Amino acid sequence: MRKNIAIFASGSGSNAEKIILHFNAKNTAQVVCVFSNKSEAYALNRAKKHNIPTQFFPFKEWRTPTNIIQKLKDFNVDYIVLAGFLLKVPQALIHLYPNRIINIHPALLPKYGGKGMYGENVHKAVIEAKEKESGITIHFIDEDYDKGTTIFQAKCKVLPTDTPESLAEKIHKLEHQYYPKTIEEVIISE
Ligand code: GRF
Repeated sequence: MRKNIAIFASGSGSNAEKIILHFNAKNTAQVVCVFSNKSEAYALNRAKKHNIPTQFFPFKEWRTPTNIIQKLKDFNVDYIVLAGFLLKVPQALIHLYPNRIINIHPALLPKYGGKGMYGENVHKAVIEAKEKESGITIHFIDEDYDKGTTIFQAKCKVLPTDTPESLAEKIHKLEHQYYPKTIEEVIISE
């Protein structure tokens, strides 16, 4: 049976779009909705372009996620995929979807994870620490942020000439290359 994926995204949504396109051509799963905590998130425009239903939920709805849970049920969601989602996932959702919430982090966890480590902050910290490599970590979400079981990692070199922007670009390439197919592997391995 084709599984249903909900994507949560707060930003540009380039990963969300890659995931939508990947599963458009597959019968393993499909993206059925994209939810955001930001009404102006470009991720919502990208989803609409591909005829995927979108929904904005303001901050207070994420704190008491009754309506969000109802919507996930309405869409028969099997998996939640976080693609640049900047809020903490409510506990109630973690309990409803054990090992079925997947996140991508733009560094090699357990390094450079946790509070405040998102977006450009991560790449700045990696460069300041003069790391020789960085990468991506795809992992399950559990109660402890950025500490769920790792599913997949890929690395890239950090050169002395790299800036947070150039490193972000390398990381995005890795994300686009690996996130959709890693999600698919998780789904078909069930
Ligand atoms: C990605 O780098 C992801 O690792 C991080 O947020 C960024 C989202 O990028 N969690 P985009 O919105 O998918 O372009």
